[in-house]
Formats: sequence, C-alpha cells, structure tokens
Amino acid sequence: FLVDKGNYRHFMAKEIHEQPEVVGRTLSHYLDLSAGEVRLPFALPFDPKKLSRVTISACGTAFYAGLIARYWIERHARLAVDIDIASEFRYREAPLAENGLMIVVSQSGETADTLAALRYAKAQGQHILSIVNVETSTIARESDTVALTLAGPEIGVASTKAFTCQLAVFASLAIALGRARGVLSEADEKRLVRELAATPGQMAAALAREAKVEPVARDVARASSVLYLGRGGAYPLALEGALKLKELSYIHAEGYAAGELKHGPIALIDYAMPVIVLAPPDATLEKTVSNLQEVAARGGHLILIGSAAAREAAAAELAGFIELPEIAGAFAPLVYAVPVQLLAYHVAVFMGKDVDQPRNLAKSVTVE
Ligand code: G6P
Repeated sequence: FLVDKGNYRHFMAKEIHEQPEVVGRTLSHYLDLSAGEVRLPFALPFDPKKLSRVTISACGTAFYAGLIARYWIERHARLAVDIDIASEFRYREAPLAENGLMIVVSQSGETADTLAALRYAKAQGQHILSIVNVETSTIARESDTVALTLAGPEIGVASTKAFTCQLAVFASLAIALGRARGVLSEADEKRLVRELAATPGQMAAALAREAKVEPVARDVARASSVLYLGRGGAYPLALEGALKLKELSYIHAEGYAAGELKHGPIALIDYAMPVIVLAPPDATLEKTVSNLQEVAARGGHLILIGSAAAREAAAAELAGFIELPEIAGAFAPLVYAVPVQLLAYHVAVFMGKDVDQPRNLAKSVTVE
C-alpha cells in the first residue's frame, strides 16, 4: 500500500520520528498497562521453567537488537543466551540443547541467512520464536511462535523504527519469561513494566532535542573515522551507531565495548577521530565515564551522549554533548537509539548522501 514521506524530507526522518508512536503501539500489544504487567499476545508452546537456554540469530541491525536483548534475558529471566549473526550461525554446526528456544529477528522476515538459521535450529528440535515486522513473511510462516513488531512498513534501507520495536518486544519477552520462570518478583515486574512503558515518552523527549544533534553532525561529517563506545546495552548500541554512520555517510566507523578500549583502539586516539561515548544511566556508568576520561587524557575528540549527570561526572573537555533526559536505566537503549540514529541521519544529510537508498545496500537481502 501507499506510504508517503508526509512532511519529512526522507523516509528515514519520518521513521525515526514515528518511533514514540510505533514503540508505544507495540508495547500496548505486549503489556497490560493498567495492571502493570506483561501480557503476551500469544501462548508460549513450551514450559518456560523447563527452558535450558536461548539462542538468538539475525543479520544487521536486527542482530544488534538481539545483542541488547541478551543482557535483558540473562538478567531478568536468568536464562543463558547464545547469539550469533545468521551467516555464521547457519554453518557453525552448533550443538543445540534440548528444550532450547531459538529466537530469530528480522524486520522483513525474508533475510536468507536468518531463514537458514531458523531452519537449522528447527532441525535441531528448538522451539522457534520469530520477532518479525511482516506477518505474512517466510520466517513468520516457518516459526512456532510469531512475535510481531507493530512498526508499520519501513521504507528507509537503514532500519530505525523496526529496531526499537524489536527492542520493545524483547524487553516484554524478557520480563514475561522471568515471571513465568519464577525468577522475577511481581514487584520487579511492575517496576520494569513501568520503566518500559515510559520509554515512548522519553523517546519523544529525545526527538525534541534534534536541533542539538545538528552541530555535532557537522563536526562528525569532517571525520574520516569515528569510534563509538559503550558498556552493557550501550555496547551493542555503539555497534549499531557505527553501522548506521557507515551505511548512510560512508564514513568508516567502529563500535567497541568501552572496557576493551585499552586492548587496542586507544592507540587510535587523536584529535581527528571523534569518539562518541554512549553513557546511559546504569550500573556501569561510572566505568564508562572513566573510559571517557582515558580518551580525554590522550587529547581525544570526545562527544558524549548522556544525561546532565553523566556530563558532570565526565568532568572533561567535550567537543560535543547530546543531552538526554534523566531516565531509569533498565531499557535505556530504546531511548539512546534515538540520538544515535539522528546523528547518522544528519551527518549523511549534511554530506548530501542518499539517506533512504545508500549505495550498494538493499532493504531486504533474500539471497546469500
Ligand atoms: C539489510 C538492511 C538492514 C537490516 C538487515 C536485516 O542489511 O539494510 O537494515 O538490518 O538487512 O534485515 P531484516 O529484514 O532481516 O531485519
């Protein structure tokens, strides 16, 4: 059906701005907001208490959603998670345990490698749950359970709203599994559901600060290489930030776990390479801040994405600061995704690149 850009210059801009609405819609499909509980829109065809482990596989941005979800599923559902990109997983000959749950993630539901990973896991007797945006897709049809993201059609080649909707589904699922397994108390469920339900409003607040992203984008557009750093859920988000920047602006970028800085990338630090530090409020914030200071001490070109409190803790000279509201930490990657996407978008627009159709990329990769 017909999808237009509305008042936006690009589909990507429209899709970034739609996120509070589509994440809200997805969450209302998975949460009972008045009861403050998760209520999955499907019955799980297995006993969550008997699950041995979870395997996740996907490609591209959907893979990074899975990487973030690993933290949530391990923490809230106390289930071990193995995750790999589908093109590797399908050929790894990984032994999969009995009573294992395989989660595949795909916006289109047609990605060839992800489908092959699904089929491999199915042949190994795994329960197959897919998180997809297209209900009629091949991956949805071949799954035991389909968890839909209600993102609506995504036209921009670089995934944005499908990603945050995938995170919303994963967060709901992690809480539901934790409750069903008896490892998450009712009070914890209520707190987590409250924090999750607050994310669409916080994403809207992050979008409202778009004007603050533009000067940072102009600065980044001059670079030939960019490093993104984060810990915990912000580590995969750093990978996603680097992917978005590469895809849209063709600037080389790398995402790194902040704790790995001293095992290599610290050698790259100079004033020419922007180092974008994602510092959401979680238990690792202090550590992230000390990594930031290590970059500052070497004359690095620092850009911080974080709250005013993170800015104050950083106590370093910054080339750029994208301030986000103070939020609770559990599902912060949903909110921190917004400035990461906006930054890549504005760098590409500033450089005159084809934002919706980057060179050499396809929206859906249906061949190997
Ligand atoms: C392509 C797209 C990406 C997407 C990936 C996985 O590379 O350009 O935006 O993340 O495929 O696609 P899927 O439809 O499986 O999520």
